[in-house]
Amino acid sequence: MKKIIVAIDGYSSCGKSTIAKALAHYAGYNYIDTGAMYRAVALHCLRTGEAPLDAIQHITVDFRNHHVCLNGEDVEGQIRTLEVGNMASKVSPIKEVRAFLVAQQQQMGKDKGIVMDGRDIGTVVFPQAELKLFLTASPEVRAQRRFDELTAKGEQPVFEDVLADVNDRDYRDTHRAESPLRQAEDAIVVDNSTLTREEQMNKIIAIFNEHIH
Ligand code: DC
Repeated sequence: MKKIIVAIDGYSSCGKSTIAKALAHYAGYNYIDTGAMYRAVALHCLRTGEAPLDAIQHITVDFRNHHVCLNGEDVEGQIRTLEVGNMASKVSPIKEVRAFLVAQQQQMGKDKGIVMDGRDIGTVVFPQAELKLFLTASPEVRAQRRFDELTAKGEQPVFEDVLADVNDRDYRDTHRAESPLRQAEDAIVVDNSTLTREEQMNKIIAIFNEHIH
């Protein structure tokens, strides 16, 4: 059995991190959530007012016990807000910010045995990854999932607004100049619109097992 790199890319809110985490657990691999790294840079800029280009000259972003750390501080609990998400979508198109984080991501994968999720993992970070998955689900299904999450948190979202937000993010992710989200030519597409989490996991584990033998 060989150790491989699993690159998982896809649109926002299509369950990438849940799947990536579960696959890493199954395989006994390390899991890296690259979105958390962009969010950590964004958090630093929000806290200090510093420009991203200055920030990357001196900050550190790494993982300890699977939690993302900014300058050594565990910030996992502070990066999943709407404010940080919006700031992350402003810092992530900047070429120098991407170069700063991509270099670290490549370093993290040098011994293989890793599952990494993001937008550019199979295309830019690890174009040589042995297994590339591209997760997708229809905008309506993803909007419904986000709508349910917000409702569960006690918010009262309007479905049409949530759907418009999903479509906006898709547009921004796929149309930016630097490393836009796109499917690698050799990626396996998994559309989970009509799959339960268990069905999806079984499908992905079967694909993974085919790739390690
Ligand atoms: O997946 P997420 O919502 O945590 O990502 C946060 C932001 O970072 C989002 O704007 C997409 C961007 N991102 C990126 O440009 N490249 C990655 N590899 C991961 C995330």
